[in-house]
Amino acid sequence: MSRAEDHLAWPDQLEALIEDLSQFSRVVVISETGSTQDALARLNPEPGVVLVAGRQTGGRGRLGRRWADDEGAGLALSFAVKPSSAAHLCARAAVSISSAFTSLVADHGIRAGLKWPNDFLVLLDRPRKVAGILVEQVGDCMIVGIGVNVHSRCWPAELEDTACSLEDAGVKITRLEAITRLLRAWQKTASSSDDQLRAAFREADLLQGCRARFEEGGVLHEGVVTEIDPFTGVSLRTDTGVTLMRPDLARLQAWEGLC
Ligand code: BTN
Repeated sequence: MSRAEDHLAWPDQLEALIEDLSQFSRVVVISETGSTQDALARLNPEPGVVLVAGRQTGGRGRLGRRWADDEGAGLALSFAVKPSSAAHLCARAAVSISSAFTSLVADHGIRAGLKWPNDFLVLLDRPRKVAGILVEQVGDCMIVGIGVNVHSRCWPAELEDTACSLEDAGVKITRLEAITRLLRAWQKTASSSDDQLRAAFREADLLQGCRARFEEGGVLHEGVVTEIDPFTGVSLRTDTGVTLMRPDLARLQAWEGLC
């Protein structure tokens, strides 16, 4: 079975998997869709429904960005959860991604971790993004979308310098294994308090101690990151004091100090 068709075997395997995972009630696998966020929203899902696509052609990210996918190379899934704050869900998803994949990358002698607020990166020749998170509210439900670059592929020119896959970092797993690790990791965080998520996020964080430049409301802020709080923001020590960069307003433009 080719990579592009591997999803044909997923329904049975994922249904068996979620029997042990109380956070999920139903799995829907579709061959192709524009965005798994929209495909799931159209089902008017109750919390616990997870939708996975064999191929996603119009994935989107935060701040109006595109999420680029290629046939059979990436993983795109979305699941519905009970109403909760977007910051809490984003932190929980980030910690889940980190716990699903960091140790696999570390087995190849490569460091991986989180870049606030929603990126999972590996440190190759430079920090490169492997996974991202999009949390959206649809009616009374929240939808958590996760994209993971699993297999090596050719990147569009605009991503050549910033993206890579788990395979590029030496990790050879199938997309089904990646989904399984992610859903299990989400289940594991089910009982985590905000304090526990904050601590886990900080442990995986790559940004603290780096020089960084943020833009917030048209104003640039440059300094050293002194503390990360996934719920409230990033504390940045600038020439004029410590200022808080907030998750819903600030955009990280540049950072250095790693690799
Ligand atoms: C980001 O990096 O800004 C977030 C990327 C999130 C991509 C995932 S792929 C599954 C789900 N469907 C989408 O259209 N987006 C998310």
